[in-house]
Amino acid sequence: MNVLGIETSCDETAAAVVASTGEAARPWRLLSNVIASQADIHREWGGVVPEIASRQHVRDICGVVERALDDASCRWAGVDAIAVTQGPGLIGSLLVGVSFAKAAAAMLRKPIVAVHHLAGHIESVFLEHGAVALPHASLVVSGGHTSLYFVPEPGVYRLVGRTRDDAAGEAYDKVAKLLGLGYPGGPAIDKLAREGNDRAVALPMPRFTHADRNAPPADLMPGALPPGLQHLAEFSFSGLKTAVVRHLAHRGVPVTTGLTVPTDAGPLSRQDVADFCASFQRVVVEALLDRTFAAARRLGVASLGITGGVSANSRLRQDAAARGTREGLAVYVPSLRLSTDNAAMIAAAGLRKLERGETSSLEFNAEATMVIGKHE
Ligand code: KG4
Ligand code: ZN
Repeated sequence: MNVLGIETSCDETAAAVVASTGEAARPWRLLSNVIASQADIHREWGGVVPEIASRQHVRDICGVVERALDDASCRWAGVDAIAVTQGPGLIGSLLVGVSFAKAAAAMLRKPIVAVHHLAGHIESVFLEHGAVALPHASLVVSGGHTSLYFVPEPGVYRLVGRTRDDAAGEAYDKVAKLLGLGYPGGPAIDKLAREGNDRAVALPMPRFTHADRNAPPADLMPGALPPGLQHLAEFSFSGLKTAVVRHLAHRGVPVTTGLTVPTDAGPLSRQDVADFCASFQRVVVEALLDRTFAAARRLGVASLGITGGVSANSRLRQDAAARGTREGLAVYVPSLRLSTDNAAMIAAAGLRKLERGETSSLEFNAEATMVIGKHE
């Protein structure tokens, strides 16, 4: 069975073809994976401009899908089902993919499956590594999310905990903006951090106060950790961001004006910026891994996935692998082309639903906010 995946939730227009193999150990094979990134367009504005993003998706979607079919040596007639990101994401962007997918499914008279974007990130590990040991936990760490999911069986996702405020990728992007490193910030900080001293700047490790622990968000119903231990899988990055702003202001960087400084000028030398990036990255990675490994231990998982755009981070990948070895836990991080937004993971999540006998009617709509696993 060939599934065409379509992903347009933010600023990447992506299409991919994934085939089911019938082999239990490696049930899916990636046939093509095409991504048209709009990063160059949004960079000029310092972040994603939703209206521009949706218009660009309209321009790119046909060519991207045709290319994905071509690369897979698959004709329209060879497509057995279509999987598309329903949400969460930018509504205008999502609508382009959803409308295209519905039109294609109606034309082909083939099933359509609406997929949750985070289910896609979680399944990227299974797409790349096959049937990893269960139960599994997946830390989805991206521009919009920092969430830990428990996967007791294939296709079941239970939300264990998530960030109380900013996502880790959002913290990367905001700090990069303050440092004048441009958009997207994650890759820029990652690169400069390699030249820096990660102990040069003392930044606070994100922690919760007792009061925070007593006030979980009203819509959060964690599924797997016992009450009293749920803070193990909760994250927070807004305090760190405030500490960064304070530190930079103290160093004379004009952060209060909202202006950015070029890295080769202003009060900070290139080495200062590199040291700062390395220190910031150390704290973020430690916070993510400390909580995730503690929660994984409590959950008794047999494997751990680290997925989403921030999992492209070189230090996170390195440190996660080292900790996994130390703690005897199998850790999987998808390769770079499957870490950041792509449609192969959406096709995989679609296949998972199809295998469970789930399809969607053409009536479903794009959803800017939607959660999975909350009440299971
Ligand atoms: O999963 P993704 O492509 O889109 C969302 O679903 O949000 O994640 C994008 C996020 C951005 O915040 C970007 O700065 C971050 O992933 N990112 C990174 C790296 N590459 C991308 N963060 C840290 N280090 C990287 N190498
Ligand atoms: Zn994503």
